[in-house]
Amino acid sequence: MKPIVADTGLFITLEGGEGSGKSTQGEMLTRHLQEKGYRVVWTKEPGGTDIGQALRKVVMSNRHGDMVPETELLIYLADRTQHVKSKILPAIREGNIVISDRYHDSSVAYQHFARGVPMATLDFLFQNLAGGLVPDITFILDISPDTAMKRIEKRTVSDPGSMSKFEEETLSFHKKVRQGFLEIAAKEPNRVKVIPADQPRNEIFNRILSFLNPVLPAIPDGEKSS
Ligand code: TYD
Repeated sequence: MKPIVADTGLFITLEGGEGSGKSTQGEMLTRHLQEKGYRVVWTKEPGGTDIGQALRKVVMSNRHGDMVPETELLIYLADRTQHVKSKILPAIREGNIVISDRYHDSSVAYQHFARGVPMATLDFLFQNLAGGLVPDITFILDISPDTAMKRIEKRTVSDPGSMSKFEEETLSFHKKVRQGFLEIAAKEPNRVKVIPADQPRNEIFNRILSFLNPVLPAIPDGEKSS
């Protein structure tokens, strides 16, 4: 099947706390859209580029527990700047649908709402370094931090030592992150859709599709998959 290249691409982001199932939904969505004939770039932050992978190791390492919030923010912004300029924007301009597992709303929820870095600092860096690209649509997979912690604990029983720096944070930290995401959604209801994530994965997926279908670029007549 010939991939469909829309006139203009689409930028979709998936956000939410740890253990919310973003990656599973992102993979399901990528497959679904590819099967419909779209050309899809599935990527993530931090670590969507080679340079980003190196930055990810620094920012996520449990050995860097003494990292101050401003350093943490600058590393995420460095990752984002590289990601947007070398990968996301070129892909969108070529008409791809780009789906990113986390993007700038994560910085707002984690570094502003949970860590306390002023919003003006985030705005300045995002606009002046990372290009200020706003997603067309964002899905926040919302789950209570208590449920998420249980999911993570279950995973770490079979894979001890796999807890990330953020997964080791306190419950009150994760509550602030969740509150942050919900405030972002309340401020930008057209772009940001909150999806309850304590549901079966197919139900979550169908909810996502119900919001996404109306904004998908049309598939040109001659290229519709049979
Ligand atoms: P990752 O292993 O990708 O976790 P998840 O599967 O939950 O997405 O870890 C990314 C971590 O980085 C996650 O805990 C959230 C955090 N983060 C920020 O604090 N700020 C940011 O801007 C981004 C993109 C992520």
